[in-house]
Amino acid sequence: MPGAGSPERPGPDASRSGSPPAAPPRSDILVRPSGPLRGEVEIGGAKNSILKLLAATTLAEGHFTLRRVPRISDVDTMIELLESFGCRLRYGGDDVLHIDVPQQLSPHASYDLVSRMRASIAVLGPLLARCGEAMVALPGGDDFGSRPIDMHLAALERLGVDIDLSHGYVHARASTLKGEEVSLAWPSVGATENIMMVATAAEGRTVIDNAAREPEIADLAAFLNRMGAEVLGAGSPTITINGGGPLRSVDHTPVSDRIETAVYLAAVGIAGGEITLRGAQPGHLRMLCDKLGEMNLRTSTIRGGLWAMSPHRLRATEIVTLPYPGVATDYQPLLVAMLSLADGVGLVTENVFANRFRYVGELIRMGADIRVEGRCAIVRGKERLSGAPVRATDIRAGAALVIAGLGAEGETVVRDTRHIRRGHEDLVGKLRSLGADISWVPAG
Ligand code: UD1
Repeated sequence: MPGAGSPERPGPDASRSGSPPAAPPRSDILVRPSGPLRGEVEIGGAKNSILKLLAATTLAEGHFTLRRVPRISDVDTMIELLESFGCRLRYGGDDVLHIDVPQQLSPHASYDLVSRMRASIAVLGPLLARCGEAMVALPGGDDFGSRPIDMHLAALERLGVDIDLSHGYVHARASTLKGEEVSLAWPSVGATENIMMVATAAEGRTVIDNAAREPEIADLAAFLNRMGAEVLGAGSPTITINGGGPLRSVDHTPVSDRIETAVYLAAVGIAGGEITLRGAQPGHLRMLCDKLGEMNLRTSTIRGGLWAMSPHRLRATEIVTLPYPGVATDYQPLLVAMLSLADGVGLVTENVFANRFRYVGELIRMGADIRVEGRCAIVRGKERLSGAPVRATDIRAGAALVIAGLGAEGETVVRDTRHIRRGHEDLVGKLRSLGADISWVPAG
């Protein structure tokens, strides 16, 4: 069996120094009923932070160091994107990434790279700030909806950017960027980040009203401030950026990945047992831990992480996804997988993305009793699911199917694992280290 339990691929051209052996790119994941889980796993840096921090490095010339960088293919894509602008990147250890940003950048993000990963749109703001222009492919839709970028573009226009949409690209130009008040109709994570980054180069003060409050936003603000910017209020609904000052390169360790943490919480919820999640930041997971408590999963903050135990069968509850500090939409597939095995009827309302229940059909193939009506899913819990071949439809749904397999009779084979590799570092190895019966197998 090739690469059983091996970690995910390292970056494309970044030096392989210290890299673990690569899993074959077209492998499936085989899961058998498992539990109780025991042991501890290390939670990595937040994907949704690191991608934006990498984009933000283009704001200044010099040598940056990012630590705790997970080996996932979305990071590989962002590395390729930065290399296409003229940056040089190399790993200096398992999870340390060095970035050299040159004086001259080529501000062009190709469709090939942007279409692989929507988060590539995060380069629009920093390229504009640094080069006065940017040409970035339109990201288009993805697995959970049309995902427009109208709020990003309207905010940039307010700051003095000329936007032209043609031939599938955003052509953005600004001779002068001017600070302004920007009010977001919805606290979009990506729009808040792009505005923060472009506003560092705008003359005067920019105020973002109804800004996103996710921990990754506060992390980006901390990074920008370390670079010499003045970003105030990140983590609250009003962020103020006093722009125009010089920026410099820095060394930074990002916040830990709360979604990766949620994956292992869901795993112990379904398989039972007791685990420790080293490096998890429980302060970012309060609402989720409250919900999991209602479902019978016990969690407790410990020095340097989070402890969790699942002594009984899970109990059904009602879940509503919301922008932070609410229950994140990225947890939703994991919670639906848990409710599929809980005692009682659960109700899940998805408020952030219009079309984020596509994967439910795969859980139903595993015997789950789920009815989707618009933005709601009604989940009738079962004692056991039934192992089946299933397809990962996106990053988080893929992880949820793997976790559901822990509570399914027989074998579950998860296909299209490229989605899982995009965002979950060494999911197979980490679950195995907790005692799960899981391995890579050749693609079927
Ligand atoms: C980020 C996260 C993603 C998470 C999401 C919500 C990254 C790489 N991705 O995505 O994992 O699920 O936040 O927490 O960090 N919208 C518009 N117009 C816009 C922008 C957004 O209508 O210009 C809509 C979206 O379609 C969606 C909602 O606003 O319905 C939230 O999107 P947003 O917060 O922007 O998510 P992303 O930044 O794309």
